[in-house]
Amino acid sequence: MVKYKVADESLAEKGKEALYIAERKMPVVAKVIRERFEKEKPLKGVTIAGCLHITKETGILARTLMAGGAEVALCGSNPLSTQDDVAAALAEEGVNVFAWHGNTNEEFYWCIRQCLDLKPNILIDDGADLIVTAHQEYPNLLELGTFWGCQEETTTGVKRFKAMEKHGALKVPLFPVNDARCKNQFDNELGTGQGIISAIYGMHILMAGKNCVIAGFGHCSSGMALRASGLGANVTVTEVDPIKALKAKYTGYNVMPIDEAVKNADVIFTATGCKNVIDERHFKDFKDGLILGNLGHFDVEINVAKLREFAKSVKPIRQDVEEFTLPNGNRVYLLAQGRLANLVISEGHPSEVMDMSFALQALVSEYIVKNKQDLKPGMITSPEDIVDQIGYLKLQSMGIKIDKLTEEQYNYIHGYAEGT
Ligand SMILES: NC(=O)c1ccc[n+]([C@@H]2O[C@H](COP(=O)([O-])OP(=O)(O)OC[C@H]3O[C@@H](n4cnc5c(N)ncnc54)[C@H](O)[C@@H]3O)[C@@H](O)[C@H]2O)c1
Repeated sequence: MVKYKVADESLAEKGKEALYIAERKMPVVAKVIRERFEKEKPLKGVTIAGCLHITKETGILARTLMAGGAEVALCGSNPLSTQDDVAAALAEEGVNVFAWHGNTNEEFYWCIRQCLDLKPNILIDDGADLIVTAHQEYPNLLELGTFWGCQEETTTGVKRFKAMEKHGALKVPLFPVNDARCKNQFDNELGTGQGIISAIYGMHILMAGKNCVIAGFGHCSSGMALRASGLGANVTVTEVDPIKALKAKYTGYNVMPIDEAVKNADVIFTATGCKNVIDERHFKDFKDGLILGNLGHFDVEINVAKLREFAKSVKPIRQDVEEFTLPNGNRVYLLAQGRLANLVISEGHPSEVMDMSFALQALVSEYIVKNKQDLKPGMITSPEDIVDQIGYLKLQSMGIKIDKLTEEQYNYIHGYAEGT
């Protein structure tokens, strides 16, 4: 029997409309892989639990895993990113979904435990909270034999697992799918890059002519800088990695320390995976009208707690935007309480880009089932043939053909004999 807890079951029809739109934009997951899964049932008898943003795209992944024979359980990977209509539709379709927008910290972990209570064989995480909770509270579940493997969808989660592995605490085979070429070069760069546009919709301002500070120049943040500059903003990048900083400079952006950059900023966006990038010492330098947003995974990049203490008053001024009046009278606008603003204010990444991320998760799930006997605890790189396959399928869905190496070319680039 399907178990679930959602905000409002009557939203299911609206959720199905959203899923209908996403189906057509995700041909690799929703058509090619699903049709094969329907025939071959590679996930028959397998229970897969995912702690993912509950969006229409995640719904498409759930449908494909179920088409492959899996029982699917889902909980949200962020308290504010769940789309309640999609959650209701998925519950009606037979997904064990425990998610609603605005859940408390206690409720967030309750939802995670509901998924783990279903004794999943595979875990798919986005930020590491599901798998870390499994390690802490469900050690018996993780015994190899009944439990086969995990995947991690985002950079922050991968960093947590690398730290666990270093400390000998990682007890499961873990595929950091975030790091695959078909994922972070598209999902992080294009999806989060475009996310700055969805996030700024919270204040609906003209970006042209604004001084926009982007903290970080990694996958997400370099995409965000590109889109902000495309909208006509004067972009300043802050970094802690000298090579990334140089790359930003030579791409044409201003580069300076955050303490200087803050003074002139009209808009600041963070996506570093680091904490307190915007901290107490910066508040006195905030310009009147500054917009503050974060697209990194956790709500730690802007020190929101200290900003609340520092402000004379705080009031909501529109959906997911709060106005902070500072002691000097300047007013500052915080998007989405400092949580990932592209998912809270808008619907997260466009379906086209999630087609590749979720194709990878579907195919790595199949790989885990097929190879479960051979998988050992530790980080395992996503198989390159799967990554290439996703590239080919996506190109094919767009009617694009590419070249193939001739035998002569293959031998040349894999050999050493031919030189000057
Ligand atoms: N909002 C979304 O939809 C979404 C999607 C994908 C990833 N993410 C999250 O975004 C964050 C960034 O992911 P990524 O893939 O770009 O990681 P990344 O490692 O490619 O980039 C992070 C960059 O930030 C820099 N950095 C770290 N600390 C800094 C600091 N204090 N000041 C300035 N720069 C600093 C690093 O040097 C690095 O270049 C992560 O938390 C990730 O989980 C969010």
